[in-house]
Amino acid sequence: MDKLAIIGGRPLYGEVAISGAKNSALKVMAAALLTDEKLTLTNVPQLADVDMLARLLAQHGAQIDFSDGTLTLHAKDIISTEAPYDLVRKMRASFNVLGPLLAREGKAKVSLPGGCAIGARPVDLHLKALAAMGAKIELDEGYVIAEAPDGLKGADITLPFVSVGATEHTMLAAVLAKGATVIENAAREPEIADLAKCLNAMGAKIEGAGRSTIRIEGVDRLHGGEHRVLPDRIETGAYAMAVGATGGELTLTGTDGELLGTALAALKEAGLEIDDTDKGLRIKKTDERCKAVDIVTQPYPGFPTDLQAQFMALMATANGAATIKETIFENRFMHAPELSRMGAKISVDGQNATVRGVPRLKGAPVMATDLRASMSLVIAGLAAEGQTMVNRVYHLDRGFERLEEKLQNCGALIERVKD
Ligand code: EPZ
Repeated sequence: MDKLAIIGGRPLYGEVAISGAKNSALKVMAAALLTDEKLTLTNVPQLADVDMLARLLAQHGAQIDFSDGTLTLHAKDIISTEAPYDLVRKMRASFNVLGPLLAREGKAKVSLPGGCAIGARPVDLHLKALAAMGAKIELDEGYVIAEAPDGLKGADITLPFVSVGATEHTMLAAVLAKGATVIENAAREPEIADLAKCLNAMGAKIEGAGRSTIRIEGVDRLHGGEHRVLPDRIETGAYAMAVGATGGELTLTGTDGELLGTALAALKEAGLEIDDTDKGLRIKKTDERCKAVDIVTQPYPGFPTDLQAQFMALMATANGAATIKETIFENRFMHAPELSRMGAKISVDGQNATVRGVPRLKGAPVMATDLRASMSLVIAGLAAEGQTMVNRVYHLDRGFERLEEKLQNCGALIERVKD
C-alpha cells in the first residue's frame, strides 16, 4: 500500500486549482441512469470513487468515456437492475443507483451499503422516501429488492432530520414519478442545488433545491444534457486550513469562498486572511499561530463534518484551547489519537473534543481510517517538524485529486512512496 512521506515546516506559496466536487460528481453520475440519451459532465475529478461508480454504471449498461475531466455517460439500455455487494460495499454513494433504476425500470436489487469507519450510516430515510412514492421494498440477504411496476408516484416527504443522501436519492427518484413530490426539511448543501441544476438541464422540474423545501414535478421522460460539476468546497477548505497550519499564501482557483458556509467565518476568526481576487480565493497566513476557535458540525450552511478532521489539525497548533463538537456522525474522531502521536494535545469525550494547541507538532508514522481524517494528517504533517509518513494513501486517492502534485507545486516536501 502506498504511503505519503512529508517533511514538514515549510510554508505554502502558489496556486492550487480546485477540482470539481466529488460529492456532487457521484450524484450527477447516477442521474445518467434516468435517460436513454447521453449525459456529459465536465469538471469531474479523477478520483478512485468516480472510477468505482463508473464501473457500476457500466455494469448497468452505461457506455462511459472519461478524459480530461469530461465524463460522458450513455445508458441507452439498462442491461442489469442489480447492484452487487462488492461494488456498493466499497462506496456508499453507489446505493444511489436504486432510485434511478426503480424510476426508469420499475425494479431494482441493490446491496445495502453497510456501516463504515465514521458511523453506522443507515439508509432507512432513503427507503422510507421510496416507499412513500409507492415502491414495494423488501430486504433479503443484505439486498434491497424494490419494485414499482406501475411507476413511482409523487409524495409529501418530511425528513425527520437533515440527510444529504436521502434528499438527493428522493430527487433522483421523484423526477420521473407521476405527480408532485415535496421534500420538507431537505438538506441545503450546495451539492443538492448542483444535482437539481443537472436534472433540470435534463428536463426535470425541480424548484427550491438549496432551500429546506424542494418541490419536484414529475415528468414522463428525461433527455440528455450537459452539466459542469461545482467546485469542491471540502478541498477548498482543506487547502485553506493547510495554509493556516503552515503559513504562507495560496490562491485557490476555480472555487468560491461562499461555498464554505460558516467554515469561512471560522477560518477568518482563526486568523486567516481570505479574499476573493480576480485570480481566485486568496488565503494568507502570517507566521503567527492561529487563534483557537470553537466549532460545532452542522448540516449546511453550518460547519461541515467533512472539514472537522482538517480543522482539528489546524487547532492542534493554534494558540489556546478549542472545542470541537461532532453532531453528524457518531464515530468521527478517529484522527484524534493519530494527531496525538504527533504531539497534539487532544481529549475526546463522546461528541466533544478539546484541542489544546501546541507551538509545534512532531512528525511521526500515522494512518487514518477515512478520507478526511487522512487529509488532517497530511495537514499536520505539513506543519510538523521532521518527517511524517501517512499510511493508507488509498483513502486520499478516493477524494483529493492529485494531492501530492498540487502541494509540491506550492513548495511542500511531500512524495508518494510505493510499496
Ligand atoms: C454525505 O453523506 C457525504 N457523502 C458525506 O461525505 C458527508 O459527510 C455527509 O453527506 C454529511 O454532509 C457523499 O455525498 C457521498 P447524510 P450521507 O445522509 O449522504 C444519518 C466524505 O468524506 N442517516 O447527510 O451519507 C447518517 O448516519 C463523506 O466525502 C440516517 O440515520 O450523509 C448521519 O448520521 C463522508 N438514515 C446523518 O444521518 C438515513 O437514511 C447525516 O447523513 C440517512 C442518514
